[in-house]
Amino acid sequence: MKILALVGTNANFSYNRILLRFMKKHFKQMADIEIYEISKLPAFSVDVPLEEQTEVWKLKQKVKEADGVVFSTPEYDHGIPSALKSAIEWLSYHTEVLKHKPVMVVGVSYGRQASARSQVQMRQILISPDCDANLLPGNEVLIGGASRVFSKDGRLINADMRDNLEKCFTNFVEYIQVFQNIDEEEVKMPIKRPTISDAYINFPTGRMTLKEVQQIFSTIPFEIDLVDSSDRFAWYSDKPNREHVRNVASLNEPITECHPPKAVPIVTKIINSFRDGEKDVVTRPLWMHGHRSLIQYYALRDIDGHYLGTIEFTGNVEYILNLFENGAWGDKPDATTGASNNGANEEGNTTAVVDASTGASQSSSDDNAAPSAPAEDGNDDADASTGASESGSVDADDESADATTGASQN
Ligand SMILES: Cc1cc2nc3c(=O)[nH]c(=O)nc-3n(C[C@H](O)[C@H](O)[C@H](O)COP(=O)(O)O)c2cc1C
Repeated sequence: MKILALVGTNANFSYNRILLRFMKKHFKQMADIEIYEISKLPAFSVDVPLEEQTEVWKLKQKVKEADGVVFSTPEYDHGIPSALKSAIEWLSYHTEVLKHKPVMVVGVSYGRQASARSQVQMRQILISPDCDANLLPGNEVLIGGASRVFSKDGRLINADMRDNLEKCFTNFVEYIQVFQNIDEEEVKMPIKRPTISDAYINFPTGRMTLKEVQQIFSTIPFEIDLVDSSDRFAWYSDKPNREHVRNVASLNEPITECHPPKAVPIVTKIINSFRDGEKDVVTRPLWMHGHRSLIQYYALRDIDGHYLGTIEFTGNVEYILNLFENGAWGDKPDATTGASNNGANEEGNTTAVVDASTGASQSSSDDNAAPSAPAEDGNDDADASTGASESGSVDADDESADATTGASQN
């Protein structure tokens, strides 16, 4: 279980930080607690430009990926510190990362009231409509007399407070599990219904079961992402070892949310060019994880040309490039006849290239070649699968950042 724990102050020395470090060690069998320092964040303002919000974006990703969030708040003037309020404003403004997220409040202060008043305030904030977190009720972890209750090496030595902390944190873990079980049941439900598992889709060109559709997306060598017509991240293929790791928590988010701030202008530009009908394809060759990859964005349109969304194909192309570099296509076709020198295959003289993954021969000597075979005739102008021209595509050198990750291509 992954827990994100926010230190509720930007002070260099903090008893609340000591408490969270103690919890990280003390509960390591129960949860993996990552401590986050809100001092990394800019002060909240609606006017901070998006490109200066990289750290805010990182925090939002951490919150999304966590199973639960712990806020440890000091008490300043009977309320929460302004730095903590600022962090929560970032987590609630134009984003829903806290929505239904299991959260727990703990706190340490000098006074005898033991941050009780700031914790009450914190609880009110977390259930406000824009936060809408699933707040663990009750379970008050009130640690007062901060300077006396911790040992020099950061252990909570007050036995009553430690017992209470253990009880409350155990309740929090169980509370998270309740939500996880509900989610799992929802996921399992469609599978339990035989009508759904037997269902198939009738395409004009044949029919496929839902299981086949799912497995096709997991098997094809490109991963696919779909942004719908309202610019929300709608779906991604669950191919293993994806180049871009996606998270279901990002589904339905506006693209401005699920991309790093640096990448947002590029993605927006591509999508707008599709929506305006200015472009149909954008191709971006990139180095990713030490290998050559290709990202291709396609405008998805209905038969009347209305914009339905954007699909992004991403794949490792080393295998194809290696085939090319090793001369797998032989010489160029004869310019006058258009006949390929590989026509020798038809005589059975040259070596067929065997697909490493399927073992299937790609030799053109196969008289029953698939209908896509004409694409091998060297028509460079049209995309073999969609027929879409790439002439409207953005030159890969036009932009310096990967639209998805914001990583530089240089
Ligand atoms: C501006 C300010 C206001 C404070 N107000 C309160 C308060 O209202 N109640 C309280 O118990 N402690 C108050 N304190 C003392 C804090 O509890 C103490 O500094 C505590 O160590 C803060 O938590 P931290 O160590 O995690 O930063 C205040 C401290 C500061 C700096």
